[in-house]
Amino acid sequence: MSSIETFKTEDSLMAPFFNKQKISIERGEGVYVFDEEGNRYLDFTGGWGVTSLGHAHPVILDALLEQGKKIIQNPNSGLTYSPARAKLLTVLREILPDHLTKIFFTNSGAESNDAAIKLARKTTGRTDVISAHGSFHGRTISTASATGQSKHRDKFHPLMPNYRFVEFNHLAAIERAMDGSVAAVILEPVQGEGGVRVPAKNYLKEVEKLCHKNGSLLIADEIQTGFCRMGPMFVTASLGVKADILTLAKGIAGGFPFGAFAVSKRVAEKIEIGDHGGTYCGNPLGCAVSYAVIQYLIKNRISENVLKMSKLALQHLSKTKNKYPDMILEIRGKGLLLLIDFGSEPMATQVKNTCLTNGLMVTQTNGTGIRVFPALTIEEQELEEGLAILDQVIAMISKCS
Ligand SMILES: Cc1ncc(COP(=O)(O)O)c(C=O)c1O
Repeated sequence: MSSIETFKTEDSLMAPFFNKQKISIERGEGVYVFDEEGNRYLDFTGGWGVTSLGHAHPVILDALLEQGKKIIQNPNSGLTYSPARAKLLTVLREILPDHLTKIFFTNSGAESNDAAIKLARKTTGRTDVISAHGSFHGRTISTASATGQSKHRDKFHPLMPNYRFVEFNHLAAIERAMDGSVAAVILEPVQGEGGVRVPAKNYLKEVEKLCHKNGSLLIADEIQTGFCRMGPMFVTASLGVKADILTLAKGIAGGFPFGAFAVSKRVAEKIEIGDHGGTYCGNPLGCAVSYAVIQYLIKNRISENVLKMSKLALQHLSKTKNKYPDMILEIRGKGLLLLIDFGSEPMATQVKNTCLTNGLMVTQTNGTGIRVFPALTIEEQELEEGLAILDQVIAMISKCS
């Protein structure tokens, strides 16, 4: 097939949910991907924060092959035991905060949040969930209902009832919304899809205290921020925040569709057989890949690389902002979840498209932003290569406008 044929087939047969870019990716290697004609692009999208070890990483390939040769899906799925699952549980137990005593697996972030909401209701015997404006928690009907962005909600009424929204990073707003019906507060430690919004340092800890006082649970959605994306393994743990339920996915398995959630004793005590499950939950192949990815993150101190690359990127981007103050409104974010806010959606779209024609793939976020969101293993010269392309593109657009 050629790219042209692939475009034609997908455009005619695939449900048109995505506003696609005209590029057909055939393969990837490290931080680079190649289209069907063999053109090379630097990937600053991390597959939406998933491919944390880059593309075709040998540890992932080995885990896939080795486990695939043994078994992919257990007979009777979760009703039988699996050494691959036990290994992953053991390593997760080592990296998770001590108070999260039980772990379960999912296939995606939305499923992890869905399960968290179910369990929060069962644990507390209450109905309501507080979420933040600008949040993103998934696209199933219950997680879209928990998502604080109208574009993900408005066309799908009736949404699930009993969700309340408050301003993000605003403690008094959460305090006002608290009452005896609130089962849980669900929050991202840093809002990703909502435009890379970093709250005040004490925000999550204070929310934890408010939840505790009210008898409500705190669900920390670390689907985007977890597994070293922001530097530490988990943002909540690095801030000393004790969430009752921690939801995980994306970077957990470096590209293999996989997720998890971990719960505190209070939640675990309420779990009964049959409350939750799923055909693929904790399937040996996903477990083996996730184990390999997590071991790699730990052994290679990827957290340190993220902090180093983040510092370099922020220094570089702040110079770019100073050079083009009329074009760039703000640079924000932490770790390798950074955003250049152009304050204009057409401008961000132009930057994204011009980057592509110059060999750099970026993600447009919340309309006006372009994310710097590469693999966590990215090296200095690769990062500089991508930032230099961004600079050139911004310079070109600035000359024309
Ligand atoms: C914070 C957060 N929660 C949940 C999700 C949904 O995850 P998935 O797309 O794997 O269902 C996302 C996806 O972007 C996310 O960023």
